[in-house]
Amino acid sequence: MAMNSALAALALVLVAGGAPTATAQTVTGVLRLNEPGPVIAPEVYGQFMEQLGTGIDGGVWVGPESDIPNTRGFRNDVVAALKDLQVPVVRWPGGCYADIYHWRDGVGPRETRPVTLNRWWGNKEENNAFGTHEFFEFAELIGAKTYLSVNVGTGTPREAADWVEYVTSDTGSRLAEERRANGREKPWRIDYLGIGNEPWGCGGRMRASYYADLFRQYVGFVAPSGGDTVVVAGGPDAENYDWTRTLMQVAGKDFDALSLHYYTLPTGDWAAKGAAIGFSEDQWRSAFVQTYRMEAMLNAHDAIMDETDPDGETMLAVDEWGAWYDPTPGSPGGWLQQQNSLRDALLAAVNLNIFHRHADRVRLANIAQMVNVLQAMILTDGDRMILTPTYHAFALYRPFQGARTLPLFLDSPAYGDVKAVDGTAAVDPQGRVHLALVNLDPHHEATMILNLEGAATEITGGDVLTAAAMDAHNSFDAPAAVTPRPFTGARLNGGRLSLTLPGKSLVVLTLR
Ligand code: AHR
Repeated sequence: MAMNSALAALALVLVAGGAPTATAQTVTGVLRLNEPGPVIAPEVYGQFMEQLGTGIDGGVWVGPESDIPNTRGFRNDVVAALKDLQVPVVRWPGGCYADIYHWRDGVGPRETRPVTLNRWWGNKEENNAFGTHEFFEFAELIGAKTYLSVNVGTGTPREAADWVEYVTSDTGSRLAEERRANGREKPWRIDYLGIGNEPWGCGGRMRASYYADLFRQYVGFVAPSGGDTVVVAGGPDAENYDWTRTLMQVAGKDFDALSLHYYTLPTGDWAAKGAAIGFSEDQWRSAFVQTYRMEAMLNAHDAIMDETDPDGETMLAVDEWGAWYDPTPGSPGGWLQQQNSLRDALLAAVNLNIFHRHADRVRLANIAQMVNVLQAMILTDGDRMILTPTYHAFALYRPFQGARTLPLFLDSPAYGDVKAVDGTAAVDPQGRVHLALVNLDPHHEATMILNLEGAATEITGGDVLTAAAMDAHNSFDAPAAVTPRPFTGARLNGGRLSLTLPGKSLVVLTLR
C-alpha cells in the first residue's frame, strides 16, 4: 500500500481522541418467526454449589449468629440476588465432594455435627453446618428446584437410600420421624437425583461398564418410588464418546438423564490454564475456540444417544460447565477462586446459545459454580458482595427460560477460528420474541441486517453488555464496571431488523 493510502486508511480508524475505533463488519441473516421449535427448558439456566472453599461457607451461609444480615443463616444479599436471577435449579453437595460426603454428618443440632476433612478441596476442615436441612431451605428461599447428588464413590446403596427416605418420606418410618425431630415436618421434593459424580475420575476411577452396572444396582434401591424425580447417571468427560455409548447400552433404560462435564480452559492445558484477567488477545480468542468444542460434543453425544433413544426421551444434562482459570494469586489452594470478566459473560452467552440449539436433548445444565468458585455469578468478601459479568449475562437471558426456539441463520465473518457473531432467538408464551447476539471480535463492530420471516412490528426492549477492555471486571471497589446498559441502536423497518453490535459485546433484544 502506498504511504498516502496507508495514512488515509489509518485516519479512517482514528477518532478525535486518537484511539482506534471499530471498523464495521457486515453480518446478514434470516429469522423465521413462524417456525417455533422446542421449548428451552428453564433448567438449562441451573446453578451448581459445592462444599468447596467459600462457595457455601461465607458465600451463601454465614450462620444465624453472624453480623452479616441473614435469614436463618443465609446471606440476605446473596439470596436476593439469586431470587432476582430466577435460578431454576441448584445442584449440591458436589462435584467431587459428593463422593466423600456422608449425609449423617450434616443433620441434627449444628453444635454436635462433626468436623470432617475435605480431601478434594485443600483438606479444608468442614464443620457441616450447611447440611441437608440447610440445602433444602436454601433452595426454597431462592425458589429453585433441587438436585441432590448421592455418594457412590465411598458410600453404599443403603446410605444413599436412607438419605432419600429421610428427605422425601411422608410416612411414620424411623428416618421420616428423625427428620421431623430435626425440625422439618413435611418432606421435601428431590427434583433431580444424581447417582455419583464423575465416576471416571474423583468419583471412583471406574470404567464405563463397571459404573453402568453399579448405577443399575444403586438406582433400584435409591430412586424414590412412584415419583417423578429425574434420575441422572454419571456421564462422560467431554469427548469420551465410548462412555456415552456404554452407559446408553447397558443402563439407558434406567436413567432419565446422562450428565456431561466440560470446562473451558483458554490454553486447553490443566497445568497452566490461563489467567482470569490480564490475558492476551490470543487467550481471549482461544477461550472461545475451546468453548465452542461444546457444540461439537453435544452433536456427537446426541447422535450416540439417538442410536438407542431416537425419540430423545433421555436428556443430556450438562451439569458442570464454565470457564476454569489459574486461581487468583494468593488464594488458598483448592478453593478455585478466580475473577470474572467481560470474556466470561460472552463465554456464558456462547454456551447458552449452544444449549438453545440443542434444546430438544439438553434440558438441564448447571454452571460451575454459583458463588465464589470458578465462573461464579456472585463474589463475596466479608459483608460485601458483587455481581459478576456472568451474572449479568444470565440476567439478560432470563426471558429465554421456557421460550420456544426460533430458527436463526447468520452469515458472519470469522474471528480467528470461530464466527465473530453468533446468536439465538426464541418466542415466549406471551408471543414476545427474544434475540441474543454476541460479537466476539474485540476490534470490530458488526453491522447486522436481519430479514424477518413473519410479523414483528416493534422493538420493545434492548440491553447491551460491553466494556472498553477485554478483561474488564467488577471489583469490590468498582462493582459496576461491567453492567448492562439500554441498547437503543436497533431499527425495525418493513420486515428488516438492522443494528450495530459493538465489538466484544452481548446484545439482547425484545420484539413484538
Ligand atoms: O467444579 C469443580 C470440580 O470439577 C467438581 O467438583 C468436579 O465434579 C469437577 O471435576
